[in-house]
Amino acid sequence: MGELQEKELAARAGAELVREGMVVGLGTGSTVAFLLVALAQRGLDAVYVATSPSTQRDALALGLVVKPFDSLEHLDLAIDGADQVAESGWLIKGGGGAHTREKIVAAAATRFVVIVDSSKLVSELHAPLPLELHAFGIAATLEHLGSTRRRDVARSPDGGVIADFYGDVSDPATLARRLSSTPGVVEHGLFAPDLVSEVLVGVGDEVRRRTYGGAP
Ligand code: 5RP
Repeated sequence: MGELQEKELAARAGAELVREGMVVGLGTGSTVAFLLVALAQRGLDAVYVATSPSTQRDALALGLVVKPFDSLEHLDLAIDGADQVAESGWLIKGGGGAHTREKIVAAAATRFVVIVDSSKLVSELHAPLPLELHAFGIAATLEHLGSTRRRDVARSPDGGVIADFYGDVSDPATLARRLSSTPGVVEHGLFAPDLVSEVLVGVGDEVRRRTYGGAP
């Protein structure tokens, strides 16, 4: 089975976790695109929060009920893709530049479920690591970070500059602390295992499930 079929399998398994009445965060990307279709087919009475304008547009077009994430305090579930999944449970996200909103949504959910095809499984994380940076002082922030290049894409919906860090990412806990304490960094794409409840991986024609520290 190819990558797309594996994405669809994982996404369909993710969609099965949604129950009537839930408030559910929706990630961004091609795997999430399959999720949206599967959710629309289920026709549940659920409310959704989108992590990007593209997810919002696609979800609305499929008839899902999407609410802004400014008055909801809590989500029952969030489902999203990832660029890399290490055995330790650390993720790299932000290939679509949406990692800031994706992390906020994941952190607000009781259960954060990651849906990926098998190509996303890695023994060790590797660069590039997506970043969102403040536009103010961008040259100084890039100099401070080192090994970082702006990505040639539009600003985030929150006005941030999307960039990628090409340095060593083999110690994600230390790097995450360093990036979080660097002025000018809005958010980085490292997601810690304690944020992740489970990872649903499409492998061939089956879905394998891994559970991590964020499991409720
Ligand atoms: C967007 C993300 C995506 O979840 C990640 O890039 C995976 O995308 P895809 O499902 O298209 O492979 O983090 O910011």
